[in-house]
Amino acid sequence: MTDKLKHIAIIMDGNGRWASKRGLPRSMGHKKGAETLLEIVRTAADLRIPYMTVYAFSTENWHRSQEEVDYLMGLLRQYLDSDLKEIKERGARIIFIGERNMLADDIVAKLEKIEQETSTNQEFTFCIALSYGSRSEIVAAAKKAALAVAKGELKVEDIDENTFSGLLYTAGIPDPDLVIRTSGEQRISNYLLWQIAYSEFYFTKTLWPDFSAEEFKAIISDFNSRERRYGKV
Ligand code: FPP
Repeated sequence: MTDKLKHIAIIMDGNGRWASKRGLPRSMGHKKGAETLLEIVRTAADLRIPYMTVYAFSTENWHRSQEEVDYLMGLLRQYLDSDLKEIKERGARIIFIGERNMLADDIVAKLEKIEQETSTNQEFTFCIALSYGSRSEIVAAAKKAALAVAKGELKVEDIDENTFSGLLYTAGIPDPDLVIRTSGEQRISNYLLWQIAYSEFYFTKTLWPDFSAEEFKAIISDFNSRERRYGKV
């Protein structure tokens, strides 16, 4: 079923609207959204999809109310301590991409520990984008290249798409084949801009907390029926 599919990237959107529709605080949408995430990671691991990347917190999300940011960081701590345990035990490699210097020290310590503990796992890679913004990732990669040139470690003529990809947070990870965004919004919101050059897109109206393993599998089937040409005929 998933032979052509190596990497799925997801924009989990609609937690706030899910909660508002029920007269609940936005935090309840995030709580339910975290449960959905666990179900979808389990499903991806069951289906042996080699890579899955989720947009858990963008650099723009820091501009939400302090209350909401604090809630999301609390949820993240809980997620790192308990929910991810099961995923780790299933033999997943877990990695995090994004601007770590924006995160609290205790969270960074947890991320590093999880990455280290799971670094040799190979079956399934679960990548969580946290405090992530794609333009700033690209600028950081350009700075790394410029610095390496200035130090004489890299020649300008040796900078190509491959070397540049290797300077991004996602170095070594294949580009996403499929990007899914929930909640009906049809935009990319500064997510993996370099990496999605040839990705297929699937936008569903389902709000993230209502997203299910069944819909996830149906989207994968839809992807498997598409013909990708990469600009060729
Ligand atoms: C978008 O919904 C979702 C987020 C900003 C956060 C995604 C977080 C989770 C799915 C929970 C798991 C996360 C962690 C950190 C473990 P929205 O709030 O933008 O929804 P809206 O567009 O309806 O307001």
